[in-house]
Amino acid sequence: MFNAKITGTGSYLPEKIVTNKYFESILDTSDEWIYARTGIKQRHVIAEHESTSSMAEIAANNALQAAGVDASEIDLIIVGTSSPDRVFPSTACILQNKLGTKGGAAFDVQAACSGFVYALGIANQFIKAGGAKKALVIGAEANSRILDYSDRNTCVIFGDGAGAVVLEASEEPGILSTHMHSDGQYQDLLYVNNPIKDQKHDGDQAFMTMQGNDVYKVAVKTLSRIVDETLEANKLLKSDVDWLIPHQANIRIISSVAKKLNMPMERVVLTIENQGNTSAASVPLALDQAVRDGRVKKGEIVLMEAFGGGFVWGSALVKM
Ligand code: COA
Repeated sequence: MFNAKITGTGSYLPEKIVTNKYFESILDTSDEWIYARTGIKQRHVIAEHESTSSMAEIAANNALQAAGVDASEIDLIIVGTSSPDRVFPSTACILQNKLGTKGGAAFDVQAACSGFVYALGIANQFIKAGGAKKALVIGAEANSRILDYSDRNTCVIFGDGAGAVVLEASEEPGILSTHMHSDGQYQDLLYVNNPIKDQKHDGDQAFMTMQGNDVYKVAVKTLSRIVDETLEANKLLKSDVDWLIPHQANIRIISSVAKKLNMPMERVVLTIENQGNTSAASVPLALDQAVRDGRVKKGEIVLMEAFGGGFVWGSALVKM
């Protein structure tokens, strides 16, 4: 049986930046409120001509280049996204065509903000079982297309972007374990309605709705539990983890998970201040940043975790 190893990372952020100050001009909010409650100062927003797949394409090409792998060698593409280009075909399928390849399996995973962690878990199982040799695993989101810019509960929080990894069958240890969970009883706390149905019935576009405070409370409890579960599954101690790469939803949620791990904030990769919450893209965006700036090094142990609408949550422990 093979291991699955991350051999390259890549990411993309749209050029346009929207600062908290902008929201002061359109909503009853303030830079101070947004920063104090979330840790966010700005977020990137895609241009008219861009899409989830166009961002994923750039992130994927960066990851392929870093891994020294040609797109034609990829036999599995999984995109974690909740803001796909189309209802179908999948963004993964559209991306595959943009990368100039065909034939391999390509599909999306819809697990809200846990989309990348779920996609990584699935690709890991494919590779370990011999069903794929070289996979592209991506988190990509055009959140700005599903936000209501008159709703201060949501629009100040989310941003756009894409992150990617190349995952290859390897004899060396790579992904040590992945963990995925869900609990649909919370579906009304964070959701986007079906756009097709909504357009038909009331002519409105479907937008994200969130009961932030309730989401916050469950997220903190659940993420603490998954840290324990992940360490126990690997018989590792908190001190064995070199880096925490969390989903970037709220700096206060991230700090409480770091505290649970006894991890100083210098060992936590943070992008939230400049990127906001990019849903499924946030973990691979943070990973790529920390790999490229030299913080995360080969051989180090990285704990990734995420939580999102469903609720769905998950983690991955990875030897880089
Ligand atoms: N600017 C100013 N005031 C705002 C605001 C904004 N952008 N958004 C909400 N408020 C107001 C609320 O209306 C409320 O006012 P009220 O007391 O008059 O009713 C007040 O601020 C407090 O709201 P609350 O929701 O309790 O704030 P909070 O401290 O929980 O912070 C979040 C809100 C969204 C930042 C926080 O709950 C959070 O991050 N939740 C988790 C989000 C998350 O993880 N989501 C995705 C998972 S992927």
